[in-house]
Amino acid sequence: MIMKKFSITVAGGGSTFTPGIVMMLLDNQERFPIRKLCFYDNDKERQETIAKACEILLAERAPEIEFHYTVDPKEAFTDVDFVMAHIRVGKYAMREKDEKIPMKYGVVGQETCGPGGIAYGMRSIGGILEILDYMETYSPNAWMLNYSNPAAIVAEATRKLRPNSRIINICDMPLGIMLRMAKILNISEKDLDISYFGLNHFGWWTSVKDKEGNERIQELKDYVKENGYDITIETDVHIDQSWHETFQKVKDVYAVDPETLPNTYLKYYLYSDYVVEHTDANYTRANMVMDGREKKVFSAARDIIEKGTAKDCGFEADDHASYIVDLACALAFNTKEKMLLIVPNEGAIENFDPEAMVEIPCIVGKDGFEKINQGRIPRFQKGLMEQQVSVEKLVVEAWAEGSYQKLWQALTLSKTVPSAGVAKQILDDLIEANKGYWPELR
Ligand code: NAD
Ligand code: G6P
Ligand code: MN
Repeated sequence: MIMKKFSITVAGGGSTFTPGIVMMLLDNQERFPIRKLCFYDNDKERQETIAKACEILLAERAPEIEFHYTVDPKEAFTDVDFVMAHIRVGKYAMREKDEKIPMKYGVVGQETCGPGGIAYGMRSIGGILEILDYMETYSPNAWMLNYSNPAAIVAEATRKLRPNSRIINICDMPLGIMLRMAKILNISEKDLDISYFGLNHFGWWTSVKDKEGNERIQELKDYVKENGYDITIETDVHIDQSWHETFQKVKDVYAVDPETLPNTYLKYYLYSDYVVEHTDANYTRANMVMDGREKKVFSAARDIIEKGTAKDCGFEADDHASYIVDLACALAFNTKEKMLLIVPNEGAIENFDPEAMVEIPCIVGKDGFEKINQGRIPRFQKGLMEQQVSVEKLVVEAWAEGSYQKLWQALTLSKTVPSAGVAKQILDDLIEANKGYWPELR
């Protein structure tokens, strides 16, 4: 039988993650063959550096793949099977402001959590809806696999504003943690069978079994109690010192509820004071990424262009991003793989808002996903999730209605913000900084 070949558009072609994704796609050609690959971005120059380098790489390693790049939506989204979306509206310059403005008021400054995540959400919603609309205009049968952040807010926006669209929102953090769990247990990640519930960047494992069906969570808890999820994984190309610290801090997050194992991002909510104390307000994560990953990826790209060859190039395959291929394969070939997705709750967590976007295990096949019921959740997590999901919903309502009041409420309700007064000061600064990116608020 001849295997179907796919046409992929990468939205956010100029992303620091694009070369790693391309290398990973090349490594997966046997199970997921590509006939056409297109990069789309709204920053022509930024994309061009990455695209020209990838063009050389693809010509050398997979000349059968038709490659092009463009800033024209019609060209980018016509004849496409899958859109892989990783855009960052406002780029690192705005991420830096998201992180530094709250810090001025002693509040957590983070890409996806607290005021920074809210600000980023207000920028991302429009960008993602625009791409989704292009896809549905030019390739109505395509699927959009979105991992642009803040995924929780983006997912709520698409649920509310594009309820019938073919978008699946996914995050790599739980998977990144599960690779660590597998390493701790000395088994393969593919052999883990888990139960998990929560919101994006806000969830907990309740069971981790091996392929023989044995419950292994206690062994993990014994490890996490001492070390968090910190363990060296040689192939994890994006892990630097700041991530090691995040993985170590999990031990304190775990201590608050030893019944479950937490997502790393909960530290921003449960230890906000610690995070603020341990953040340099003049040199935040955005600065580390600009001086680290961005410099490294763009200089490797320039090097390839200069030499005219990608032999011995500095691009590294982002192997852990193969979950994106797993998801595409599941949709294309009906593999029925179990994956953690961000989906409408609709009763899957029984005692939680049916209209919330939750992160839970799903079975993925050719018609999309089927949710796996996670039963009832404990009061501690339910309380935290109700507060956080209300923040996310208020942000989307504020964006859709242009409501200052609702955005102020969203910031006030965030567990990371101490008072309505501080929320207002941060909001007014963020409005100023986000002129041209946010809808006008009244
Ligand atoms: P980056 O700034 O290097 O790349 C983002 C690209 O998106 C830029 O080239 C930018 O020009 C482009 N862009 C911005 N707005 C656009 C629009 N409206 N239309 C088209 N293109 C647009 O950022 P990065 O650090 O490589 O991250 C990319 C995205 O992937 C971010 O949203 C990041 O948070 C996300 N991410 C998510 C996960 C996850 O688990 N969900 C994992 C890794 C990265
Ligand atoms: C994890 C999260 C992503 C996030 C990324 C940030 O992978 O799941 O949602 O974008 O970390 O990493 P960075 O290195 O950019 O701080
Ligand atoms: Mn994520």
